[in-house]
Amino acid sequence: MSIVYDEQRRIFHLQAHDTSYVMEIVKDGFLAHRYYGKKISEYTGASRYPDFSRAFSPNPDPTDPAFSLDTLLQEYPAFGMSDFRSPAYQIQAAGGWTVSELKYRSHRISKGKPPLEGLPATYVEREDEAETLEIELEDAVLGLCAVLRYTVFEGFDAITRNVQFYNLSDTAIRLQRALSMSVDFPCADFRMMHLEGAWARERHVVTRQLVPGIQSIESRRGASSHQHNPFVALLGDAADEHHGDVYGFSLVYSGNFLAQVEVDQFSTARLSMGINPFDFSWLLEPGESFQTPEVVMVHSSHGLGEMSRTFHRLYRSRLMRGAWRDKPRPILINNWEATYFQFTADKIERLAKAAAEVGIELFVLDDGWFGKRDDDTTSLGDWFVDKTKLPNGLADLAERVNRLGLSFGLWFEPEMISRDSELYRAHPDWCLHVPGYRRSEGRNQLVLDLTRPEVCDYIVKVVSDVLCSAPIHYVKWDMNRHMTEVGSAALPPDRQRETAHRYMLGLYRIMEEITSKFPHVLFESCSGGGGRFDPGILHFMPQTWTSDDTDAVERLKIQYGTSMVYPPIAMGCHVSSVPNHQTGRVTPLETRGDVAMFGNFGYELDLTSLSADELDAIRLQIEKYKGLRSLVQFGNFYRLRSPFAGDDAAWMYVSEDRGEAFVGYYRVLDRPGDRVRILRLAGLDSHRRYKIVETGWIHGGDELMHAGLTMPYLHGDFRSCTFRLQGL
Ligand code: DGJ
Repeated sequence: MSIVYDEQRRIFHLQAHDTSYVMEIVKDGFLAHRYYGKKISEYTGASRYPDFSRAFSPNPDPTDPAFSLDTLLQEYPAFGMSDFRSPAYQIQAAGGWTVSELKYRSHRISKGKPPLEGLPATYVEREDEAETLEIELEDAVLGLCAVLRYTVFEGFDAITRNVQFYNLSDTAIRLQRALSMSVDFPCADFRMMHLEGAWARERHVVTRQLVPGIQSIESRRGASSHQHNPFVALLGDAADEHHGDVYGFSLVYSGNFLAQVEVDQFSTARLSMGINPFDFSWLLEPGESFQTPEVVMVHSSHGLGEMSRTFHRLYRSRLMRGAWRDKPRPILINNWEATYFQFTADKIERLAKAAAEVGIELFVLDDGWFGKRDDDTTSLGDWFVDKTKLPNGLADLAERVNRLGLSFGLWFEPEMISRDSELYRAHPDWCLHVPGYRRSEGRNQLVLDLTRPEVCDYIVKVVSDVLCSAPIHYVKWDMNRHMTEVGSAALPPDRQRETAHRYMLGLYRIMEEITSKFPHVLFESCSGGGGRFDPGILHFMPQTWTSDDTDAVERLKIQYGTSMVYPPIAMGCHVSSVPNHQTGRVTPLETRGDVAMFGNFGYELDLTSLSADELDAIRLQIEKYKGLRSLVQFGNFYRLRSPFAGDDAAWMYVSEDRGEAFVGYYRVLDRPGDRVRILRLAGLDSHRRYKIVETGWIHGGDELMHAGLTMPYLHGDFRSCTFRLQGL
């Protein structure tokens, strides 16, 4: 890892583990992009994109007609000063005009990585783990300064970027667009990969060839969303899971975002990412600054799999924080699908007793324990225990669960307010709304206005009071609707378009305060399943409920897609009952276990209604997972067969020392006369032999990876099998 500035040639060369990123200051201060890809020892300009004078591409320097900003590969392009492609930022000056031009002023290279003001980000624990380059650009006419920050990490092929704007003038400047990064590739021979979905169908993998024009994904929902994840990858010509050049871009942010690639008239590709400029603006008063979220860029020259493993390792160790970061996560049971809103303390105790008997470690009481919440029409905001359901309160219930040998966890949805609540009756203006217009409800609820400090303080207080009132060791933090009528009664007219971003800043402040106050509590985020599964939230809460869809077949795709960016330890994966509550599908208990076991394992069903045989099978699943837990939660993940490509899927974990592995193979539909399936494994040590624990067979690592392993014939639909490998 290093960052070197060649003063004579005015070239910055950032080197990550096996990645180079090169920029050059050209002319009187334009910052040009020169190279991003596999590490090179020195950049001498062999691949330099030439200066081109093309028709209809103006020239900023009349003495040099070959130089045009419209053809220059750039780092942080401006609007309106002769580059016609999408800008990285746009301002509105006090005079009303919207053009600007940032030129190099100075730079600084330092050890370590500074935190971002008010925003989640990757971090270092020691100064020698990373180096940071800050390039200061200035628009001297406007009095605007932008500091572009780049950090390279030791041991990772990751470079992070963010931008901070400073208003150095004596008038206000409005930021209309302030993306976190932009990078120009000299060609557009890429496929773009991203993760699309819907509620209960999150993060399905989509890949498409880049074509001329803009291709983008975005969220305008006030959350990173089920619909599109703040992640995009570019796959080079021949790239696939195991081979080829792949560039992954992941935004550490939980709100409205934009990720776009513009293929221009000359077939260059500009990728940019950041807060969605749609309905955004930010008024920068003199002396103020604005910090954009961070983008993590990962380059892999060995396909998507290696890109994902880099994200996994980085996010597991230098994005997530807190006491739970490196600790094995407990196997939990959640009562939601077992009882929904209809439970009593005795019923919960019976469920917990059955859970204790099969070896489960944590009981989570879901929605319905507070206010008068017997359905989803009421009580959000009233975080006081419902004494009709729990007459002796939460502490008593938690202690009863503890006495059975399980720790106790609790569900909250702190960002929301029901119209039918004490809180709403007391503070009808505490929700997002616009005067005179309807307040649209989603799941019968409104969104609290987290731009208001008093609302944030209220949430910190009520959640803290509950957490102090009982031995609670886990919190599920839910969020079940998206934003509408985005306006704040507390903001002046010229700042209304700041509402959605200020909400995120408020949310991050709340999460920071609560998680630091209760460091022993394991927090799991949720948004109607995986509607806010993003790196921003993972910084505060080291696991996320992956999806409300627990059907084993659907989960193959959801978990496969999620694993593109997010480490399996972060993915809540539960076995639920059949017929599945979302799809109605009936899958074998074994398959449900074999799918869920490849993430952060748990259960979500009524154990008291199962047969003795089913309970025995669950006891064995739990025993098995406990034996594999550290491999699954801290091992390296390899995708072997995509559920998007056919009717089977496979993946595996390999321990850091490659001495142990765990393989899952899944067949969706049975077919008479089917072909033989041979699975090539990955990540093993080619010079080592491995014993398959289930069969006792011994094979070489190279043979398993290149010749492969014959899968057993699985009769019937929705079947699976798993194997453990032990290195000899
Ligand atoms: C949505 C979550 O995804 C579910 O798991 C459950 O907690 C419900 N909300 C409760 O209302």
